[in-house]
Amino acid sequence: MISYAELGLVNTVELFKKAVKGGYALPGYNFNNLEQLQAIIQACVQTKSPVILQVSAGARKYANQHLLRYMAKGAVEYARELGCDIPIVLHLDHGDSFEICKDCIESGFSSVMIDGSHFPFDENVALTKKVCEFAHSRKDYVSVEGELGVLAGVEDDVSSEHSHYTQPEEVEDFVKKTGVDSLAISIGTSHGRAKFKPEQCTRDANGLLVPPPLRFDILEEIEKRIPGFPIVLHCSSSVPVEYVQMIEKYGGKLTGSVGIPEDQLRRAAKSAVCKINIDSDGRLAMTAIIRKVLAETPDEFDPRKILGPARDELKKIYAHKNVTVLGSAQRA
Ligand code: G3H
Ligand code: ZN
Repeated sequence: MISYAELGLVNTVELFKKAVKGGYALPGYNFNNLEQLQAIIQACVQTKSPVILQVSAGARKYANQHLLRYMAKGAVEYARELGCDIPIVLHLDHGDSFEICKDCIESGFSSVMIDGSHFPFDENVALTKKVCEFAHSRKDYVSVEGELGVLAGVEDDVSSEHSHYTQPEEVEDFVKKTGVDSLAISIGTSHGRAKFKPEQCTRDANGLLVPPPLRFDILEEIEKRIPGFPIVLHCSSSVPVEYVQMIEKYGGKLTGSVGIPEDQLRRAAKSAVCKINIDSDGRLAMTAIIRKVLAETPDEFDPRKILGPARDELKKIYAHKNVTVLGSAQRA
């Protein structure tokens, strides 16, 4: 059994307290491979931002749980070597059973999400409570994120066709009964690069899709009921049009792509939302650059020359997010 403290990682408790008080949000960036991790750490060290490294069940299957865990340990040492000992959390994203949460906790994760949002309220409470009791009883306290309300879209193995907004009248009861450390809510975001159907959007002067606004009224109602409690916003990729266009220019097809505008995320980050999850934007940035490099240098076959520029682009957009969207820069 491995404790996260031995790996140099921290849980989310103190980080979230500071974020709620300071009116900013921590990045929850997903990773599956070396280049993504390098980019995340480089961006967060450069901007002096704490970071939550997220591993989904799909990532564990793809990359191997042992490798990912020791990559997180390596990330702690890499950040120090780069000159800034930023706080790093290793978090299970969308854990769907007690068993996977327990497994991650026992193998060095400092934080887990138990996503019981697809269950009826009482079952969600029972499952989340069970995970919290286990996580909180460890020698080194492991933090737990629960979810109320259903996020639509597909993310690795987790998918739902329809979203259901979080019902504010349920949050107080959920938080009290389960003992969770943070709560993911549904206010209109959904996973992936096509967050809304074209018929839900309007179009701007250039014909680009403009999504409907997030339900800040629900967020405000939730904040009133559980003041100061750490809220998590999933599905927060902006789906930058320049990456979508670059991917399409070099042969890809990403019809119907639309994300969450940055000004709305900025507004959320200033509220009790203290963690904002981003994965799709990283996938888009890397894919765009990989396609470009392959198209422009057809004789290239060194993965470092193909993935290296993609990594550098990823670093650029994550640094931008820390500074101008989340407000997490200079908070380490
Ligand atoms: O849990 C991970 C995030 O919710 C991913 O959301 O598809 O908008 O990047 P995204
Ligand atoms: Zn998510």
